[in-house]
Amino acid sequence: MAIENAVEGCVNETFAAAMAMAQSLTAKDASVRAAIGPIARDEMRHAQLAWSVAAWLDTRLKESERASVRRAQNAAVKALVVNASRAVEHELVEELGLPPPSVARALALELASALWSGGIKSPGRLSATNGTWDRDDRKWA
Ligand SMILES: [Fe+2]
Repeated sequence: MAIENAVEGCVNETFAAAMAMAQSLTAKDASVRAAIGPIARDEMRHAQLAWSVAAWLDTRLKESERASVRRAQNAAVKALVVNASRAVEHELVEELGLPPPSVARALALELASALWSGGIKSPGRLSATNGTWDRDDRKWA
């Protein structure tokens, strides 16, 4: 249960929440933006629950069990970064506001640094090095 929560909740659900948040801001189609907003908030709540469960479980696991959870979570993060780097169809970026692979990968790496490795997020790094959302042009630049 702890491994499943760490992998599915703390990694995959958290990334899904971040991607949905991006889509809710960037989709070209206003009806898509409006539809994805509540989904993004739902995903954020699911992720938040997973992190709360993880914190509670952490106090109840043996050190060897915590190490297993960390290993599984690290493997999930690596897989996520690889998957996030895969090409997506241009229409999905344009119409549905899916971040392009360079941005999705940067988002995964940023979350890895900020959340999954216990590191501290450096504000602005994502926008400084990996593209930003141009609100006026409504596209990733
Ligand atoms: Fe979910």
